Amino acid sequence: MTKNFYVTTPIYYVNGDPHVGTAYTTIAADVLARYKKTCGYDVYFVTGTDEHGQKVEEAAKTRNLTPQQWTDSMAPRFKDMWEKLNIEYNDFIRTTEPRHKDAVKKILKTVYDKGDIYKGEYEGKYCVACETFVPENSVVNENFCPDCGKELRIVKEESYFFKMSKYQDQLLKHIEENPDFILPNSRKNEVVSFIKQNLHDLSISRNTFEWGIPIDFAPGHITYVWFDALTNYITATGYANNPEMFDKFWNNSEVVHLMGKDIVRFHAIIWPCMLLSAGIKLPTNVVAHGWWTSEGEKMSKSKGNVVAPELEIEKYGVDVFRYCLMREVNFGNDGDYATKSIITRINTDLANDLGNLLNRTLGMYKKYFNGIVVKGDISGEFDESLKNIWEETLITVEKSMAKVEFSKALEGMWKFISRMNKYIDETTPWTLAKDETSKERLGTVMNNLINGLYKVSVLIYPYMPTKSSDIWRQLGVINPIKEAKIEELKGWNFFNPGHVLGEAEPIFPRLEIPVIEEKKDELSINEELVIENSIEIGDFDKIKIEVVEILAVEKVKGADKLLKFKVKLKDGIRQIISGIAKSYPEQEILVGEKVLAITNLKPVKLRGEISQGMFLTVENKKNGSKLIQVDSKVELGARIK
Ligand code: MSP
Repeated sequence: MTKNFYVTTPIYYVNGDPHVGTAYTTIAADVLARYKKTCGYDVYFVTGTDEHGQKVEEAAKTRNLTPQQWTDSMAPRFKDMWEKLNIEYNDFIRTTEPRHKDAVKKILKTVYDKGDIYKGEYEGKYCVACETFVPENSVVNENFCPDCGKELRIVKEESYFFKMSKYQDQLLKHIEENPDFILPNSRKNEVVSFIKQNLHDLSISRNTFEWGIPIDFAPGHITYVWFDALTNYITATGYANNPEMFDKFWNNSEVVHLMGKDIVRFHAIIWPCMLLSAGIKLPTNVVAHGWWTSEGEKMSKSKGNVVAPELEIEKYGVDVFRYCLMREVNFGNDGDYATKSIITRINTDLANDLGNLLNRTLGMYKKYFNGIVVKGDISGEFDESLKNIWEETLITVEKSMAKVEFSKALEGMWKFISRMNKYIDETTPWTLAKDETSKERLGTVMNNLINGLYKVSVLIYPYMPTKSSDIWRQLGVINPIKEAKIEELKGWNFFNPGHVLGEAEPIFPRLEIPVIEEKKDELSINEELVIENSIEIGDFDKIKIEVVEILAVEKVKGADKLLKFKVKLKDGIRQIISGIAKSYPEQEILVGEKVLAITNLKPVKLRGEISQGMFLTVENKKNGSKLIQVDSKVELGARIK
């Protein structure tokens, strides 16, 4: 009997475009779906869009659209992106579709009939961005969301509640009995400790806006958007209108939900409680991945550092982008998307290890046997070790994929690839080729290599569907690679003598790490700066600059540039002559002002008048030199240092 496998991504909010975070989950689901197909499963893969809720209603309003028009315009953007990323989903569900409304109504009715829904009043805080109720003890800075940091709204309205608390113990028991229910383990522990702090009943209806699925038993109320959204997973498998399919892909299937760590609680708590209440089987695994940063920083539109999948595909190609995302970090961990590490990864794993192996192997086969497969039954040193590593690889891949650990599975495959490269160095086909008596051994070595490449191409197919198919073409295999099955990789002789290998072409070009222009820090300084005619601090200390107050001012007779000031210092009154008459045609306005003056200059006589200090002025092209005025609150005699 064929085994069934159902995999889902979260359904994405339509308010923003797809980005590396959403692309990541979707690629992961695609990899898992394709992998399970190579394991012989009948696979169903669903993604889609989450289209109801206050956030969407408000976004549509600001654009002068109806929510339906707005979601209709956004959903295709996701479909387009998934096409570009070579995502082979079976169904794209939109929560505004009639089949979904039917499913939500059905589950609500079932839960209600069970006596698990009651009427009450919700009073508390709500985050519209996350579409979530935030309990008072989680609120940060008095009124902000602990997850997205946005300001919370106070909600006070009649609401229907789902008796989630009733299922607390049953859920804990399920988690305990099914250790892989929540993956990875770190997330499981987090969820368990959250449940142990006691679950509250969940408000599942809203009545202060309209964009949602109406509730039959609660006129005027619409379904809380998460209750609505989570139900998509059973809508898509025919819960409301295709019992046969529901039986196949829910009741008799492995069910795996993939999502980011931020929404694991909805999937690992609310969703299972809903299912327990409705009497529906729980999913097999709820798997949460980590969060991506970009070049070490949190991605945000304002910083302009959001990784756009289209651009990455343009730079590296779809398969390479998919490979790098899956290989760079372990699925549960956070990761950083950095150009330097991506290019290093491409050059090392893809160009050097796999690309070279393919090229060298096909090049040698062409040179020694004209690219036509020969018989080769002379096993020798190193063959055993190569074959053993292959056995280990299969086990590693199987174990890792069972725990949804993509990077570990890839690590295992690359161990085998490295072993094959080493095998070439150990068996030195070029030496064997020189000796006519070693011809058959040479054939065996070369056959091990093409067989190894065949095996590897099937394992990497879920990650790089196009590149693996290119490898098949170069190996002269004409069947479509998507039909390949891991089960068939057990033997070592896929190629019969006489099989014609294809032409070798490099499939992974090496890339240069771009010299990223250092972002100019606007506050950066030149530490090497040379200052001409610099003085020592001691020189400056010799100059006494202090705050003085102007008591009187008049023109100096016979000198139209000069003004004569009487100024007050801490220790008495002085006279200062200053050449600023042109800047102050109405010099009287200066009386009472506090200004800066050098007060330890040797007194001089100017036009017969004594000057016992010098004002500091600022040269001002437009209206001449101006005194440096000081706030009247500054104390007289205060020194400038
Ligand atoms: N609509 C809900 C899901 C409902 S499922 C019943 C939702 N949508 S979302 O569009 O906001 O988020 C979708 C996914 O993107 C989440 O799994 C989230 O973790 C993921 N990511 C968003 N930004 C991310 C990163 N920077 N890195 C990795 N994934 C991140 O939540």
